Amino acid sequence: MIQGRNRKWLILQGFRRMRYNCAFWAGEPNFMSNLIVLGAQWGDEGKGKIVDLLSEKFDAVARYQGGHNAGHTVFIGDRKFILKLIPSGVLRPGVLAVIGNGVVIDPAALLSEMQGLEEAGINVRSQLKISNRAHVIFPFHRTIEKISEGRDNRVAIGTTSRGIGPCYEDKIARRGIRIADLVERNFEEHYRSLAEDKQLIASAFNISERVDFDEILAQYKQFAEAIRPLACDTAHLLNRMIREGKSILFEGAQGTMLDIDFGTYPFVTSSSAAAGGACTGTGVPPTHIDGIIGVSKAYITRVGAGPFPSEDTTELGDKIRIAGNEFGSVTGRPRRCGWFDVPLLRYTAEVNGFDSLVITKMDVLDELDEIPVCVAYELDGQRTELMPASTSRVSAIKPVYERLPGWKQSTRGVSRIVDLPLQARKYVDFLESKTGVEIGSVSNGPERNETMFVAGSKLEKLLR
Ligand code: IMP
Repeated sequence: MIQGRNRKWLILQGFRRMRYNCAFWAGEPNFMSNLIVLGAQWGDEGKGKIVDLLSEKFDAVARYQGGHNAGHTVFIGDRKFILKLIPSGVLRPGVLAVIGNGVVIDPAALLSEMQGLEEAGINVRSQLKISNRAHVIFPFHRTIEKISEGRDNRVAIGTTSRGIGPCYEDKIARRGIRIADLVERNFEEHYRSLAEDKQLIASAFNISERVDFDEILAQYKQFAEAIRPLACDTAHLLNRMIREGKSILFEGAQGTMLDIDFGTYPFVTSSSAAAGGACTGTGVPPTHIDGIIGVSKAYITRVGAGPFPSEDTTELGDKIRIAGNEFGSVTGRPRRCGWFDVPLLRYTAEVNGFDSLVITKMDVLDELDEIPVCVAYELDGQRTELMPASTSRVSAIKPVYERLPGWKQSTRGVSRIVDLPLQARKYVDFLESKTGVEIGSVSNGPERNETMFVAGSKLEKLLR
């Protein structure tokens, strides 16, 4: 029997839920969902397009991790936007774009991205807010990354060389510099100690690359002036918006398989791309999250090194790369291509708690005679559907495929799921039944209007 304070707390929670679930609650604003949208694979799932599309229904889009290692491509008419650091919500007038505390910011990259958007007529400065708790990337972070990636006997991760990992290292080691330090003009002492630290590492590794720390300091003082008007306590801002009944879309960068804890470690990025990162990376508590949407390609890709069970290294993989234009939007590197991996998706669904999945790039499979889907793994002669933790075990996986017939016709221009060719619909149903996650939407082209929603789906209800 629950008694005393616990009982009172439960009753209060019950009332709170009732209030949020009742749009007509007297005197209260209508219930609006706060949703997380994140990648269910190794990144590049097409989140940029989905976030841009959904952002119309939200008051703010908040990015919670990563830095300018991410690249979100959005097509609007004949205009192509590649957003690296700024949430794609910025492309919708009136939607606030928030860079949360979990993001690492290279001010030079930020200002150049802002300039590009301003030149395209987007009023970035009126729509963008940056967390004063976000950490700052300096040029020497890239130097350190180069040392680390190039060192003998070190397993190279194949990073984007943007200084992301070393900046997060400084954050966790409690020697990093944050946006607040930068804009409050009191970071010089702290900066000099950080610079000394980097010089020591460089000399230990016999690195002769000259870094002019004074020049960097002067440059960052200038960056600080440009960033100051945008910096604030974004955790307070977002929580206040939620209290006012406004709705927030949380945008993950990279994908769950690149998450520092749940990805194919060490071949991962240095932040929490999974759903939990949305709370730690913005300061919005889990009690305010109403739904989690996973984005997955109809097949799968990976950039950089690391195990990839369903990779196709044959000509068919090359065909997918060309059809899907699978080249990194940040580094231009060719992406490794492979087949939809059901155990992987079940794993990412478990650690994220997906309410619904969006399947992207369905049209890339249009020409294929048959489509392999990895439905299980074989490890040590045993069939398993679980994702192992160690690199050596993931590398040892032999994928077990089921081959589905292709639909051999274009799906471009189809605007309702029911109008997809029969085999395409069967493919979607197959993925849904095997993964156990609702497929609430299918994207069949890069444009905003090339996205179909499943009528009556949980996704549709969350977006209402
Ligand atoms: P880092 O994030 O630059 O440290 O790179 C770590 C790993 O994550 C490398 O394998 C990168 O290729 C990968 N990675 C980082 N950002 C992205 C992304 O936006 N899409 C796909 N892979 C990424």
